[in-house]
Amino acid sequence: MSIARKLAPDSELLTRLRQMLDAGRLGAARPLLNAALRLYPPGDDLADLESRVLLREGRPAEACAVLDAAIARAPGAVALWLARAVAREAAGDTLAAARDAAEAVVLAPSQPRAKAMLGALLNQLGHHEDGRACLAEAVAAAGGEASYRVQLAAAQAACGDNAAADATLADGIARAPAHVGLRTAAIVLRMRGGDFAGAEVLALAACADGVADACVFGLLGHARSSLGRHAEAGDAYAEARKLAPDDPYVRHLAAAGGLAPDAGRASPDYVRVVFDGYANRFDAHLIALGYRIPGVIRAALAASRPDHGGGIGPVLDLGCGTGLLAVAAADQTRGPWIGVDLSPGMLAEAAKRGVYAELHEADIERFLAEDSRMFPLIVAGDALPYFGDLHPLLRGVAARLAPGGRFMFSVEQLATAEAAGRPWLLGHLGRYAHTDAHIEAAAEAAGLAVVARRTETVRMEIGLPVPGLLVTLARLAA
Ligand SMILES: C[S@@+](CC[C@H](N)C(=O)[O-])C[C@H]1O[C@@H](n2cnc3c(N)ncnc32)[C@H](O)[C@@H]1O
Repeated sequence: MSIARKLAPDSELLTRLRQMLDAGRLGAARPLLNAALRLYPPGDDLADLESRVLLREGRPAEACAVLDAAIARAPGAVALWLARAVAREAAGDTLAAARDAAEAVVLAPSQPRAKAMLGALLNQLGHHEDGRACLAEAVAAAGGEASYRVQLAAAQAACGDNAAADATLADGIARAPAHVGLRTAAIVLRMRGGDFAGAEVLALAACADGVADACVFGLLGHARSSLGRHAEAGDAYAEARKLAPDDPYVRHLAAAGGLAPDAGRASPDYVRVVFDGYANRFDAHLIALGYRIPGVIRAALAASRPDHGGGIGPVLDLGCGTGLLAVAAADQTRGPWIGVDLSPGMLAEAAKRGVYAELHEADIERFLAEDSRMFPLIVAGDALPYFGDLHPLLRGVAARLAPGGRFMFSVEQLATAEAAGRPWLLGHLGRYAHTDAHIEAAAEAAGLAVVARRTETVRMEIGLPVPGLLVTLARLAA
């Protein structure tokens, strides 16, 4: 006996599936979806829902394939183009996602969601003015859609118009005071402009209105730390931890505030959240902070050039970020340069520079353990402040350094007096500083010799110079 297939799922079933997904109940949604896929013929609604389930399951390529087939069947269905834009973005193809969103705008010019999505994607692709224009239309059409205002403010800020971004967010907060995304975006905007006191005022307003989540409390702590008020920052981190005990960002900063045990290094999730969050502003931000390490490493390489004649290479750049080191120093080496970083956002910026032969998304310690090549030069600019105990990292470096090879890196220096017997210290802003003694001990344990060591100001922080060291270690020739 065969069960006759109904023509389309009833709306009650579709609504239940959507509700399950909105509530994050993936475990309940999947079996119901499977049953619906068995019972009903392919259709727009089911394809949309199946793609959402696949995305939640971390399967963006399969979500795209489902939507490819659905769009081939129903090329006029706006929702499918928008769903595929979401899936393609999740698959890392922002340009294709923007093309889908543009197609949706052509099909439904008056639909604010399509315009908002196109605007946000254009902004991500660096077309900030076009993105801003699309988002402004979406906000005007939708009236009160808070999330479009968050995106519009991001585009306005990307255009350099922080005043407009601030006004957009303030207007949004006045219309939708309970929207935590607007509150967070407004606080972050103030912090990016260096206005930590203003950020604190906005965060406290969110707390007073009962709209603060862990992120708002985390930002409140960060703003206070940046103002040098570490005890009060600690109170805010403690609140954040109560609300989100497992959040890697909050956990690391709580450890920085002495409220949680120090794990000995920043977790990969923390590093990714921090650097993905500001990859596209990283270079401008570091220039503003007077970041000096790329130039200092370049000078050190130029000074040691007679030792390596025509140039040294290949070069492994640990925590390469957006590639500032390679840009500054590549001409002092023979290359090629190979970059490793945990943050896809930073790696995407590095890729745009075209100076790396290879870029790897990986944890430094893991990469050193898994790659089998040997390098005559390994560099790390401002990446070791995300590690406390340097023993494992230096052991990994020693295993990848060719005989006679060098490791050049910067650290933030922990003065002996401040160290009070500790080998390293996790600072209030989430970075580790190291004592000279710890660097020497970890180098010696790894079979590396200190061949040069110079004090250097790394950058400015809260208007004060951050003391650092530029260290060169060598693996002695066998
Ligand atoms: C302050 S940035 C410096 C970037 C670059 N080296 C420079 O000098 O401009 C630190 C970089 O180290 C990366 N990083 C930190 N910890 C890491 C880890 N455990 N594995 C890989 N990358 C890491 C971060 O993602 C970030 O891009």
